[in-house]
Formats: sequence, C-alpha cells, structure tokens
Amino acid sequence: MLKSRRILLVIGGGIAAYKSLGLIRRLRECGAHVRCILTAAAQHFVTPLAAGALCGERAFTDLFDAKSEFDVGHVRLARDPDLVVVAPATADLIARMAGGHADDLAAAALLATDKPILIAPAMNPQMWAAKATQRNLAQLKADGVHVVGPNAGEMAERGEAGIGRMAEPLEIVAAVEALLGRAGPLSGKRVLVTSGPTCEPIDAVRYIANRSSGKQGHAIAAAAAAAGADVVLVSGPVSLPDPPAVSVVRVETAREMLAAVEKALPVDVAVFAAAVADWRPERQSAGKIKKRQHGQPPTLALVENPDILSTIAHRKSGRPRLVIGFAAETDHVLANAKAKLAAKSCDWILANDVSPGTGIMGGDTNTITLVTTAGIEPWPPQSKENVARTVVERIAAAMADTNS
Ligand SMILES: Cc1cc2nc3c(=O)[nH]c(=O)nc-3n(C[C@H](O)[C@H](O)[C@H](O)COP(=O)(O)O)c2cc1C
Repeated sequence: MLKSRRILLVIGGGIAAYKSLGLIRRLRECGAHVRCILTAAAQHFVTPLAAGALCGERAFTDLFDAKSEFDVGHVRLARDPDLVVVAPATADLIARMAGGHADDLAAAALLATDKPILIAPAMNPQMWAAKATQRNLAQLKADGVHVVGPNAGEMAERGEAGIGRMAEPLEIVAAVEALLGRAGPLSGKRVLVTSGPTCEPIDAVRYIANRSSGKQGHAIAAAAAAAGADVVLVSGPVSLPDPPAVSVVRVETAREMLAAVEKALPVDVAVFAAAVADWRPERQSAGKIKKRQHGQPPTLALVENPDILSTIAHRKSGRPRLVIGFAAETDHVLANAKAKLAAKSCDWILANDVSPGTGIMGGDTNTITLVTTAGIEPWPPQSKENVARTVVERIAAAMADTNS
C-alpha cells in the first residue's frame, strides 16, 4: 500500500528516537521511500549514520550545510515527499511548529512543506499535560496537522507512567497508510494520463518526434496520485523520473500509445497531455537508410496516425466520464481549441500557445485557457505543477458534481 510513497521522517530529540529506527524499517518493508531529518537533540539519542543506513541514503541534519542545500535543499526536502512524519515529536518541536519557527532544518522543512504532516508526540506525562503543550497541540490540529498517540503506559525513564509514550512503529505505519490511502478527493477514482512526445521511426536509427518534455503530463499524473487517484501514466520517451505512486506504461509510437490507453480502460477520467505525432512515415526501413553519394535525398511519405483523444472520446461503451484534451497551437489558439472540443467530442480542452519564444514546450511554466462547452476561462501563467494541481482540483469538483 505504501509502495513508492515518499515519506520524510523528522526525528526529534526524545528518548523514543530509538523507536524511529524501527519505524524506518517498517515503512521500508511496506515499500515506502524514507528520508530522514534529525534535529540536533535527536543526534544525542540516535546517529545520522544509523538512520541513513536504514533509509538507504544519507540523513539530513543541518540547515546551513552548503552541500545538501545545493544538492537537495530544505525546500525540496519539504516538497518531495507525499507525507511528513514527525516521530518522536518532542514538546519543543511541537511548540516550534505551532509558532511557525524555522530555526533549524527540521522546523524549516516542516514550515516549508505543502504536504500533510503526521506527528507522533512523545514526552513525559507532565510535559504532555502542560497547558502550553496542549495549547500548541490544539493549534497544530487547527492547522490540519494529524496526530497519532501518545499512548498511556510506562515511560522509558524509571518510575514514570501516564500518557506520553510514543505510538508504536506499527501504529504509526497504520496512521500513515490511512492518511495516504484515504488522502484526497480522487480516492477510489481511476485516472489515465498520457504524457510526452511520440517517436515515429523512419529507419533503425532515425525518427520523427517533437519538443514535448512530458513535464505537464507527468505533473498531472503526480497531482492526481497525490489526490488519492489510482493513476496510469502512458508516457512517450521522456527523461523524467516516474512520479511516485503512479503505474507507468512506456511507449514510443502513437499506435503503441493508443493500444496502451485502450488496455488501461475503464477509467473515470482520461487526460491526454501527450504530444502525439499526427503523422508517421508510411514505411519504416529495418536498417539504416544510407546516404547516397550524389544521389537524391529520400522522399519521406507520411500517413496519418490514429487520433487517440478522438478515438477514446467517441467510444460508445467504456467512455471515461471526463475526457480532457490539450490543444498545443501556434495560431488562432482559441478558435482551434473550440473547433477541437467539438470535433473530438471531448469534455474539456486545455489550450496553450506553444509558439517559439513562449518557452512552454519543454519549459517549466504554462499558460492555459480552459475551453469547455460552458465557456472559456483563461488561467494566469504559472508553473506546470500549479497547472496540474488546478486541473486535478477541477477534475475532483466535476467528479463530485456527477456523483451527486
Ligand atoms: C535524556 C533526555 C530525554 C528527553 N526525552 C524527551 C522526550 O521524550 N520528549 C520531549 O519532548 N523532550 C525530551 N527531552 C528534551 C528534549 O531533548 C529537548 O527539549 C530538546 O530541545 C528537543 O529538541 P528537538 O525536539 O527540537 O530536537 C529529553 C532530554 C533528555 C536529556
């Protein structure tokens, strides 16, 4: 269930830190990728070496470590995971989170994250019962932070008992599973996304392709998975990592992409973000076509590729409830997008101007106009991740409408 999910584990400076090493093992046994931050106090109880060895990558400790700042950086540490877990969450760390502090790597990452946070408090019963701790905890809950434990029982310190024991690793794993499994407005929905270019072979070494990087399609797949959807990403050749928690089917040609899309059906939602080649060479040479001395260059005869968006949107049976296409245009963007919406029989078109100089094809930002039968909605220029989040929010709203 946690296969390929990314967890950032922040280990605070409490005696229960030794249990966090067991937590790393349990999370990894469930298939999760775990990264660790240890506070300065945590390093009195467990070493970064032990935590890093169990994670399979170095543990992070220092906000001002130039190497990790250029390499990963506190903002990426905060944004990369699907969930941030704080275990043990000390009274001090809870107070700093509630106060919005960013005075060490752990606090800065917790403040910078846009992902859900789960804390497992651990402290002696007096510290737990203290008005300040309870006030800070109420603030964190109001801020949307999830809490597991603490449990009642014997403390690690001799002679102490009461509420304050950190939840056991397996209880924390169960809370993580509940949060990531349940998470999001698209849970229970199956979403298909296509992404990247297609490559249409001319001969054994040459092909026709386009400048699509796959960044937008991959970002939509990642956002849909983060919203709880079961996501299949059918991708042409790209040099991007697979988004976490997404099943990826790799293809090269338009015909392979159509076959993979049809195999992935039925789905609730299909987003066709791939830049599928309209044409392919009529004939593909098995070997490399040789350049002839003083001869004429070969003529490339093209034939039309299948139209994947139109094929799926026109299906009589098994049509996804929501079919979304992209219109990458250089001229008359809106007119072409409206014509495409009608001709392809899809529900929404996300139109963008990919003229040279816009930097959209292959770039990190996008400027979208949403075209539906209800009207036209220009969105401001923004990162492809933000476009993806907005698309997913709109999909979730549309799904909620059709459910009701
Ligand atoms: C032996 C020992 C055990 C401690 N155990 C806890 C604990 O279980 N919970 C807690 O909130 N603080 C505990 N503390 C106090 C924290 O280490 C201290 O507040 C520290 O500043 C916490 O820093 P951090 O959580 O931000 O890393 C303990 C301190 C010592 C010396």
